[in-house]
Amino acid sequence: MATQSPKPPINKGLEGLVVADTQLSEVDGEHGRLIYHGYEIADLAQNATFEDVAYLLWMGQLPTASELQDLNKRMAANRLLPDGVLDILKSLPTSTVPMDVLRTGASALGAVKKIDGKATLEDAIALTAAFPTIVAAFQRMREGKAPIAPRADLSHAANYLYMLTGSAPSEQKTRALDTYLVLTADHGLNASTFTARVIASTEADMCSSVVGAIGALKGPLHGGAPQLVLDMLKAIGTAENAETWIRNALNRHEKLMGFGHRVYKTEDPRARVLRKLADQLTEVEFFKLASTVEDTALRLLHELKPERRIYTNVEFWSAAVMHAVGLPDDLFTPTFGCSRVAGWTAHVLEQQSDNRLIRPASEYVGPWNLKVAPIGQRT
Ligand code: ACO
Repeated sequence: MATQSPKPPINKGLEGLVVADTQLSEVDGEHGRLIYHGYEIADLAQNATFEDVAYLLWMGQLPTASELQDLNKRMAANRLLPDGVLDILKSLPTSTVPMDVLRTGASALGAVKKIDGKATLEDAIALTAAFPTIVAAFQRMREGKAPIAPRADLSHAANYLYMLTGSAPSEQKTRALDTYLVLTADHGLNASTFTARVIASTEADMCSSVVGAIGALKGPLHGGAPQLVLDMLKAIGTAENAETWIRNALNRHEKLMGFGHRVYKTEDPRARVLRKLADQLTEVEFFKLASTVEDTALRLLHELKPERRIYTNVEFWSAAVMHAVGLPDDLFTPTFGCSRVAGWTAHVLEQQSDNRLIRPASEYVGPWNLKVAPIGQRT
């Protein structure tokens, strides 16, 4: 047995480990605060658009009117997918999981547009602008319809809805989706952003970081939850069923989708804004069901796990808002990607500006001193 020097304790989930400094966002889990570069999330949700926030994350300040106009032009110029990317999307089976489509489309975009080498603002704009086009083009194709070309005169949120449906969306739906995009554009070192920064730390290109981040976002413990929230609401069916259904699920040791968070130990400030939006947007019966499920889940989680501090996370009311806006359930997580790509790309630029290869250690717990036997003698 080899002698080993004493090792630090293993921190499997990296809770509380600080591996970067960032100017982009601060998540205060104790007080339920989220800040993007100095601005409270509720202020941004009320008074800024997704384009404002993307600019803030990329440039470190909110844009002036002329800076915003310039960004809008650059975003609009990057919305259209090159033919090579559309051809790849067309070659996918219509049953492909939309997150896999987004991952494939983003990767194809990087290859076709030659997003390579040092990461730039231009790369960030190209990826962010094209994400909704990838998702909407695939949605149209799987419905047997032709993709709809993006419109330069619409906002990021309005154009996304337009490309999905073929008609310009109402002001209310546009505002709701835009608010969702503002709320979810960045969130400290969450799993997908960390993934993006790890990849950036190897000096790989920005598209590689973003493609890796999409993979991390897909999982139900991160961005994959909202579709499952809707599945849960559908399975519960009525407000009257909530108590029995949730109690049974918790007795089976199942996780309730849309609850719990690694950092927030109180209410997620994004859930608060989204709940209000859902109240304005969703049908009365749906809102009654969702709020009863929320109240019952919080009460039972507190009763059955009193030592845990489990609250509603962003995904619970995101699901309700995206449902009300008319997005198909399996586009919820890709839509989350359409927003978070602004944060990922900003983090890649930040990582690049003060880079150190991110390379943690593991503790080897396998066997030692084995010898390779010839193939015929192995058992
Ligand atoms: N339902 C039931 N119990 C829960 C839940 C939940 N949603 N969340 C946490 N718990 C319980 C766990 O069972 C565990 O209890 P135990 O130790 O008695 O077995 C305890 O609380 C701690 O849970 P962990 O999963 O270890 O806590 P972690 O910090 O890793 O969890 C996570 C965070 C992964 C988000 C978790 O709360 C979860 O799985 N939630 C459901 C999925 C979800 O909503 N994902 C979206 C997250 S938001 C986002 O990423 C954008």
